[in-house]
Amino acid sequence: MKISEVQSEILRLKKEKEICILAHSYQAREIVEVADFTGDSYQLSVMASKASEKTILMCGVRFMAETVKILSPEKTVFLVNPAAGCPMAEQMDRPFINDIKTRFPDHTVVAYINTTAELKTICDVCVTSSSAVKIVRRIENPNILFIPDCNLGAYVAKQVPEKNIKLLHGGCPIHAAVTVNEVRDAKTAHPDALVLVHPECVPKVVELADFTGSTSAIMEFAKMSEHREFIIGTEMSIAEHLQYLCPEKTFWCLSKKMICPNMKMTTLVDLLNSVRGRGGEEILLPEETITAAKVCIERMIELG
Ligand code: 13P
Ligand code: SF4
Repeated sequence: MKISEVQSEILRLKKEKEICILAHSYQAREIVEVADFTGDSYQLSVMASKASEKTILMCGVRFMAETVKILSPEKTVFLVNPAAGCPMAEQMDRPFINDIKTRFPDHTVVAYINTTAELKTICDVCVTSSSAVKIVRRIENPNILFIPDCNLGAYVAKQVPEKNIKLLHGGCPIHAAVTVNEVRDAKTAHPDALVLVHPECVPKVVELADFTGSTSAIMEFAKMSEHREFIIGTEMSIAEHLQYLCPEKTFWCLSKKMICPNMKMTTLVDLLNSVRGRGGEEILLPEETITAAKVCIERMIELG
């Protein structure tokens, strides 16, 4: 089958079966083209709670499908490729965080949305990269325990110096792998380009950037900017999507390390199999997990 034929079949079945397809912006272009909605983690969680369809297929990683299920437990939610996990989301578990909480009982626990549903049950509020600064600023408690990404946490701490933010050693292996030398080399190779990076990069890389933001914020900045050339410091699919969206501009990927194997697990054929009803994994969570985890995600939507 040709790519266009697979896409037509997905669109036909999706309509017939009233299925909503959500795709994170790190998904491949052929998937983004058939999705009902594509966006960053925050936008996906909001869209999930608004979708009218009873079945939702998530093209992304496991914590994103779990977030949809938590917000819409009455819906049938599938992770299109069950092997797509986020290593950062699995870095810290409940016993570990419970232990830290006993040592810092007066801290509000702020969890990056890249955490498991189980871990969210013991956190106070969730954030995404696009809402973290705003939400931390709005929390009354000056003492914050920010988990698991110490790089996003350090970025937030810099923007919100009035808070006492405690960080742990977690983070995204893809973004954190980018080095200062790679930024310097990219700037030397493309001296007219602006450097746009995701706050999951290490602070020294963020310091060298012209703009720091979530995947959607980076895309929006590049689209609106009068500049013609950009070095993109997040998963390489963003540079590709931007190149299609703005053919008159030029986009360079900051580092060849910036490819997330988990985000790339989902293929168009996986999606076809899922709409056909013979692929993907239905996300099933215990009722008590949904009830407890919902509190901190709803708080995020409220404060964000
Ligand atoms: P955002 O979509 O919030 O920018 O996060 C990027 C990411 O790494 C998702 O896994
Ligand atoms: Fe997880 Fe990083 Fe991949 Fe996002 S890019 S899914 S944070 S490993």
